[in-house]
Amino acid sequence: MSTEPVPELREEIADKLRSAGLRRAIPQPGWAGRLAAFDARIFGVDAWPAAVWKDVFSGPGRYIVYVRDGGGITALPDIAAVGGINVGEQADILTLAVAPRYRHRGLGSLLLRELIATARREGAQAVFLEVRSREAYAQAFYRSHGFIAIREVKNYYADDSATIMSLTLKPRRCGTAFDGGSATGTAAT
Ligand SMILES: CC(C)(COP(=O)(O)OP(=O)(O)OC[C@H]1O[C@@H](n2cnc3c(N)ncnc32)[C@H](O)[C@@H]1OP(=O)(O)O)[C@@H](O)C(=O)NCCC(=O)NCCS
Repeated sequence: MSTEPVPELREEIADKLRSAGLRRAIPQPGWAGRLAAFDARIFGVDAWPAAVWKDVFSGPGRYIVYVRDGGGITALPDIAAVGGINVGEQADILTLAVAPRYRHRGLGSLLLRELIATARREGAQAVFLEVRSREAYAQAFYRSHGFIAIREVKNYYADDSATIMSLTLKPRRCGTAFDGGSATGTAAT
């Protein structure tokens, strides 16, 4: 499985990250503690602890981070954004978060587009995700990228339901959507 940026986004990623003083990286097992701390600041009770972050590196998920390098040769980078996806015919977004100080600059959109394009490159026909039902902003963010809400799972979280959202990936050239886009949103990018 390639960990290179998808060719169609390579320049955009390089430009945007350079202007934000960041770089793209594939997270390393030694970053588990740092990823867990980042996750805890953003997701609170829903955050994955360091033990889970250690495990994800041996699993099938694909993770991308945008980081700012720390000082010194051995310093760990600061995490600015984290995205993860399980690829396959039906891909699942596992996590997507941008640190508050880096929000509203298009980094979340860029990372989401990277995840979607990665899923497409690996043969996905649709991308799914779940989000807290009360998280109206996150749902609007995903809707702006073509996702639609397809169902709600009651009591998914201790204190909230989950809204399942999906996006059907159209073939890039010459053809129709795989399922006509009836049950999910559609994207041609
Ligand atoms: C949802 C989330 C990932 C969005 O990240 P982000 O980097 O702020 O996303 P973007 O910058 O691409 O888009 C967000 C907004 O910034 C705007 N924007 C994008 N580029 C911009 C730029 N260059 N200048 C100003 N605004 C910009 C977008 O239009 C969008 O506007 P909106 O608030 O009116 O919708 C982020 O808010 C987050 O991490 N939230 C907490 C975790 C979460 O909810 N994750 C999703 C569920 S798992």
